[in-house]
Amino acid sequence: MDLKKLLLQLTVLGVISAAMAAPRSGQAKPGCLDSCGNVSIPYPFGTNPGCYYDEEFLITCNNTFNPPKPFLTDSTIDVTNISLNGQLNILQYIARDCYNQSGSQISHNVPSLQLSKFRISSTKNKFTAIGCDTSAKIQAYLGENEYASGCMSICDSIDYVTNGSCSGIGCCQTSIPKGVSYYEVTLESYYNHKRVWNFSPCSFAFVVEEDKFNFSSNNLSDLENVEKLPVVLDWAIGNETSCEDARKSSGYACKDHSNCYEVDNGSGYRCSCFDGYNGNPYLPNGCQDTDECNDPTLNLCEKKCENTAGSYKCSCPKGYHGDGRKDGSGCTADQLLVIKIVLGIAISVAVLLVGFTWLYLGIKKRKLIRLKEKFFQQNGGLMLQQQLSRREGSTETAKIFTAEELKKATDNYSEDRIVGRGGYGTVYKGTLTDNRVVAIKKSKVVDQSQIEQFINEVIVLSQINHRNVVKLLGCCLETEVPLLVYEFITNGTLHDHIHNESKTTSLSWQTRLRIAVETAGVLSYLHSAASIPIIHRDVKPTNILLDDNYTAKVSDFGASRLVPIDQMQLSTMVQGTLGYLDPEYLQTSQLTEKSDVYSFGVILVELLTGRKAVSFDRPEDERNLAIYFLSALKGDRLFEVLERSIVHEENTEQLKEVAILAKRCLRVNGEERPTMKEVAMELEGLKMMEKHPWVNDELKSEETEYLLGDASDTYRFGVTGNTTGAYDSTREHIALQIDGGR
Ligand SMILES: *[C@@H]1O[C@H](CO)[C@@H](O)[C@H](O)[C@H]1NC(C)=O
Ligand SMILES: *[C@@H]1O[C@H](CO)[C@@H](O)[C@H](O)[C@H]1NC(C)=O
Ligand SMILES: *[C@@H]1O[C@H](CO)[C@@H](O)[C@H](O)[C@H]1NC(C)=O
Repeated sequence: MDLKKLLLQLTVLGVISAAMAAPRSGQAKPGCLDSCGNVSIPYPFGTNPGCYYDEEFLITCNNTFNPPKPFLTDSTIDVTNISLNGQLNILQYIARDCYNQSGSQISHNVPSLQLSKFRISSTKNKFTAIGCDTSAKIQAYLGENEYASGCMSICDSIDYVTNGSCSGIGCCQTSIPKGVSYYEVTLESYYNHKRVWNFSPCSFAFVVEEDKFNFSSNNLSDLENVEKLPVVLDWAIGNETSCEDARKSSGYACKDHSNCYEVDNGSGYRCSCFDGYNGNPYLPNGCQDTDECNDPTLNLCEKKCENTAGSYKCSCPKGYHGDGRKDGSGCTADQLLVIKIVLGIAISVAVLLVGFTWLYLGIKKRKLIRLKEKFFQQNGGLMLQQQLSRREGSTETAKIFTAEELKKATDNYSEDRIVGRGGYGTVYKGTLTDNRVVAIKKSKVVDQSQIEQFINEVIVLSQINHRNVVKLLGCCLETEVPLLVYEFITNGTLHDHIHNESKTTSLSWQTRLRIAVETAGVLSYLHSAASIPIIHRDVKPTNILLDDNYTAKVSDFGASRLVPIDQMQLSTMVQGTLGYLDPEYLQTSQLTEKSDVYSFGVILVELLTGRKAVSFDRPEDERNLAIYFLSALKGDRLFEVLERSIVHEENTEQLKEVAILAKRCLRVNGEERPTMKEVAMELEGLKMMEKHPWVNDELKSEETEYLLGDASDTYRFGVTGNTTGAYDSTREHIALQIDGGR
């Protein structure tokens, strides 16, 4: 056997078996021809016994044509398309009736269509007649009953024939009722087309698929050459009138995953695949699940698509919500996720911020602490602490305040808290947390010598306990410039009261004398009674504060000196205020207690005369009050210089005594001046004399001593504050004097 031949045969066999094993998309039964020529033949149609549902669905494939031609059953009806949705496209003859110019009929036919089971589609087809001398009739049977219909078209001119529409001129149409399975078409003419022969020699009539026929004026003549036109048939299975019946029958045609539905043209039913399935519902497993996910034309899901039996499922990935469908809510990022992310970022930013702030503040705070420590040491804090701790035993000691406390007490050193201002700095009224009103003295110049003076004042004041001395409550050394804290005193300075015109009347001689006694008592105490003698060095009315009861409070110990017992004379830089300055001290720079006596003498004169210690407004010989007063005394003109308001009949003696005492205090030679103790005692005596004019001298001095002792032994803490006179002003005065001396 020829090997080549065998191979060829095998190949042919292979091709055939392959075709049989895999019929095109499973539309025909296995082993059946699934197409004829260009027409596919799905089951229930078939070309061979066993391949179709029943005889009605036989398709005869005539292979003598090329390509082969399918015919419905064993008829001559051409089949052009078979679709499983219930339509069958066929070709059907048209009726014609043609004449020659003289009106003799030259051709005529009466075609008919006979179907057994299928029906003419009433929706897709139209009965149509063409011609201008035409009457067309369709006769049909609906079951047993005959029916006839038709249309007529008469026209004299082609001018009225419109292209594109079958509107009754040259072309008329009528619908076809449901249930037609047989029809016959007949044509008649009234004038044998004689009058219209030149443009319409024939009449035509046919049932045609409406969409496939578009009328044109040319068709009046050119249809002569056309034999067949397309017609649509409706097909159905069985004779059952309902699906319910059909399901009961043994020949029920709808297979897996399919439904039965009733037809509206003729009897029987058809099948359709479930939603989500496609294929041939008449074949077992013919309906196949549609893979919606892999169909690019559907594109149903937004993110994730999962095919399921008969359907599909859209879903969203983690962190999203929604149904995932393109035509639904789609997939949107979870709000929770967004919130989580936003929250995460916010929190981390906040943490960073807080961290940095904390770090920054920490560094700043440490800097501040270091600065405070530096100032504390620079301001003699350690020394002061020692000084203060030595006095620990006493009932009330000066306190070291923190910078923070004082800042709070003065509203951060606000302007409206200022009660006094001068070259030396500023005094603020402050309120401590325990509601105590205090005066806070703050130097404005950063000068080591001034700081020393501050410290000096703290140390001096911390040694003194006297009811007529401004009480120092404490100090603060943490700031660049040390701050001193005093009890607040409300009624201003003695200077204000003597020299301020509006206040003179209120200060009587008794009050003046009492103030003199109190001031002398303080100075006497400083010089002798305190543990270490102290020289005030700046005794003047501006440094004598008055409280509401006009009780004197000596203040401003910035220039004071502690004088060690074994050293009765100190050599210092000259300090003091012009007009009050001891001329001897000015010349020798030898500081003794007698300098304070001189200054006190000037105060006495001021109290007596109400004049200022130095005034350039006065004539030259009156400028220096002390000199002027002494010369007045010498000339026996005392009562000319006394302030008028204080002179009364009963106190002239007292005034004279005080004037003489003042004169003694103002002696140029310090040694000739009385001590402060003597001055204080004498003044006290004069005061007693006023109270008890009958008392004799012996009694007076006893009582004075008693009272003095009382004053220094009872540690009544004078409530003090408010300072005015100061260091810078001191220097200014000295400079002034030197200038004035030239
Ligand atoms: C056959 O009919 C179906 C349904 O009407 C249509 O989709 C298909 O295109 C037709 N085929 C041909 C070759 O006309
Ligand atoms: C109709 O169409 C045909 C061919 O397209 C054309 O020859 C004819 O003149 C048209 N008739 C009218 C009335 O427009
Ligand atoms: C009707 O006339 C038009 C225009 O000449 C033509 O295209 C069409 O094929 C004709 N119709 C038929 C059924 O011959």
